[in-house]
This record gives sequence, C-alpha cells and structure tokens, in this order.
Amino acid sequence: MSTINYSEKIPNNVNLGEDRTLQRALEGWQPNFINWWDDVGPEGSTNHEVYLRTAVSVDPQGWAQFGHVKMRDYRWGIFLNPGDANREVHFGDHKGEKVWQDVPGEHRANLRRIIVTQGDTEPASVEQQRHLGLTAPSMYDLRNLFQINVEEGRHLWAMVYLLQKHFGRDGREEADALLQRTSGDDNNPRILGAFNEKTPDWLAFFMFTYFTDRDGKFQLAALAESAFDPLARTTKFMLTEEAHHMFVGESGVSRVIARTAQVMNELKTDDAQKIRAAGCIDLGTIQRYLNFHYSVTIDLFGADQSSNAAIFYSSGLKGRYEEGKRDDDHVLKGQTYKVLEVKDGQLVEKDVPMLNALNEVLRDDFIKDSVAGVGRWNKVLEKAGIPTRLVVPHKAFNRQIGALAGIKMSPEGRVVNDVEWAAKRDEWLPSSEDFAFVASLMGRVIEPGKFAGWIAPPVMGINRQPVDFEYVRFG
Ligand SMILES: [Fe+2]
Ligand SMILES: [Fe+2]
Repeated sequence: MSTINYSEKIPNNVNLGEDRTLQRALEGWQPNFINWWDDVGPEGSTNHEVYLRTAVSVDPQGWAQFGHVKMRDYRWGIFLNPGDANREVHFGDHKGEKVWQDVPGEHRANLRRIIVTQGDTEPASVEQQRHLGLTAPSMYDLRNLFQINVEEGRHLWAMVYLLQKHFGRDGREEADALLQRTSGDDNNPRILGAFNEKTPDWLAFFMFTYFTDRDGKFQLAALAESAFDPLARTTKFMLTEEAHHMFVGESGVSRVIARTAQVMNELKTDDAQKIRAAGCIDLGTIQRYLNFHYSVTIDLFGADQSSNAAIFYSSGLKGRYEEGKRDDDHVLKGQTYKVLEVKDGQLVEKDVPMLNALNEVLRDDFIKDSVAGVGRWNKVLEKAGIPTRLVVPHKAFNRQIGALAGIKMSPEGRVVNDVEWAAKRDEWLPSSEDFAFVASLMGRVIEPGKFAGWIAPPVMGINRQPVDFEYVRFG
C-alpha cells in the first residue's frame, strides 16, 4: 500500500486505477496543471535538469530518490500516509467514534472550504517565487528553490485529489478554480493575504520559507488530526516535505547573517552603510524583513476569536497542533484562553471561551516554534562576537486581521499614534530603499560551488553531495 505506483500516468498509492471516475477527473485536470506550471511556474526553467528528490514510498525510511529531472517531468502524484483501520476521532463532539472515510453531509461545506483554503496557498507560493531563479545566489540555492516549487505543486495535487474524490462536481469546479486564481491579481487573487504579497528577493524568500511555510506546518499538523481520515493521511505526508522548506528558510537566513557578521568583523564596524557598501545586508534590514514576514504570517491564523474555529474543532474537522500529546479532555467546553484587546489605548488580556480562541491557540504554538529558530540565528551572531540580537516583534505589531487590526503598535508592543507610526515605519518595516538595496545585490551566481557575496556557503550539500555538485544542468 505504501509503495508508490509509477507505472501509471499519475503516480499514486491510492489504487487510482480502480476508480475510473476519479482517474478521468484527475487526467482531465493534469494538462491544465502543466499549462499553469508553464505559465506561472519557475521562469525560464523549462530545459533545466534539476537534482530533485522524488517520493518513492511514504514509509519514513527512504521515501525519497534523488536524480536530475526536468521539473515539467516531475512525478507529481497522490500519496497518502498508510491508514490505521482502528483510528478513532480523538477530539471534539465525535470523540471516540470511528474516523470517517467519506465526507459526512453536515460537514461537507466546511471541509470543502478548509481544503480549498489550504490548496490555494500551494500554487500561490510557486507564483510568488517564480522570478527568483533568475537571481539565485548559487546553484545549490537554485536547486532548493526548485525542490520547494515542485513540492508545493504536489501539495496542490494532494488537495485536488481530495476535492475530486470526495466532493463531486463542486470539487471538480474548485479544483479548476485553484488554477485560475493568481497571487497578487487584482481581479482574481489568492484567498489569503500573505499569499498575495510579493517575494521580491532571496532574503524575502528565506524569510517566507522560514515563517510562512511554518504556518503551513501548523495548519497541516492541525488537519492531520482530522476525523476525515483521507485529509489526515494526506496532510501527514505533506508535512514530511514542509520540513525541508523550513530548513531552506532557517539555514538561508542563518547564512546571510553569518556572511554579514564576517564582514562586520573584518571591517570592525556595525555601520549599516559601510556593511552595505561591502555588499552585505545589514542586520537592521534583516530585522525589518523579519518583522514584516512574521507579522504577515501570524495573520494567516485568522481572527483571535472565531466561531468557525470552534465549529471546526467540535465537529472534528481540525484539531490543535499535537492534539494527541495534550492532557486535557480534548473537548474544551467551559475552558478559557487569553486573547489581547485594546482598551483605553492599552493592550489588555481577556479570557474568552477556548473553543472560540483556537486560532489564537494555534498562532501561539506557531510563535513558540518560530522564536526557537530566531534563537539559533542569534547564536550565529553570538559566536561571531556581535552583540546585536534579532527579535520577533510583538504579536500585535502590524496586524491586519482580528481584534488587533487597525491599531498601531511598535515592535515592542507599545500603542503608538499615527504620527509616530508614520515617523518610525521605515525603522520597523522594510522601506522602499531597503528593497531597492537588497534588489541591487541580487545577481545570478550559478557556477557550481560559487556563492554571491552576501551569503555564506552552506555547511553541507544536498543528499551528501558536495557543495560544488552540479545541482542544476542548464539545458
Ligand atoms: Fe505546501
Ligand atoms: Fe511549503
């Protein structure tokens, strides 16, 4: 069951050949997907042969196989984690019942919405990253970008499979619409805000894959708890790929910091202009990028109080992060959780029913997880003997969604007025001048083993290959 069948047109471990209706639907969708990839996927990459890993089995041991392939020929397909015949719903009102193999009628609309919203983020990020290959800081980084792009493509397949298999005609229409919305489009944008932002340069890419792919991890982990078993099994397998995306982000930012620290020590300066003149990204700019990507990403968790979040949980559609490891009753009725609100110009905490605050619970879990990696970035500075530290901004900073939208906050969490915000904005968030400077560093370095001057080489290569391996063969 866990071995993937590559002899079929659509690689899968779900016995696709036995479900003719689904097979026809997916085979009808496939050419549209390839057209989408050609139109808005990685620019100018059609003839590149990229050292990619492809899933060959969903077993934890050795699921991946590496080799040079053209991305267009990547074996996108349908892979589910092995099922457990005895699995039970372990939270919400259906706790203790058998998990569902089909969509219960009363949860159909909500499940469809959850799957479409998740599915929409996958092609969106490919669109956001489509120009980055033209300014890669190395062949190693170029390969990592492409690996992420093909895997986000596969994540789209995963959600389309669920839609087409379980939601009939509605599902097929939603699957088509996933290829029609476009990131940043005025008329038909992607569903969520962060997925309509630009990813204009590689520092933004690394911040995106560190923070925004981590949002993906938390959403997928919450869906991996779902009582709708096909969704749980699909998202569980997607999580194995998400780990690599976050690694690219964390190690990418870490290498930028390492290179900056090295130049700061060589020049014995912390003057941003001197560091920039030496072709490196000053720590202030890195902090502003961090502030932006962090705040935009935590908005993705939704409003701090949400009756939908309560319904999704109580009906068993979406659990909490690591639901199984928590030692409460997994029903949460009568429990409370603290959220923030602004009263008389000050931030105050207030207790609200926990079921309504589950977006905030997931956001707080995300925050804990992201702070840990920022600590590892600071270790790089500490080792280099540089006293500056990066920090995540207050969770009320620069929010557009929920009770904290519409108030102005400093990164430290002080309520500020419009005048102060306007005066300090460019100290807190990337300015057009920051973007222009970072853009000016973006060249194209593609000789094996060579790296742009603003980023340190990685500690090791991919799949134990040397750092100067030919990760991409240009056709
Ligand atoms: Fe993804
Ligand atoms: Fe991802």
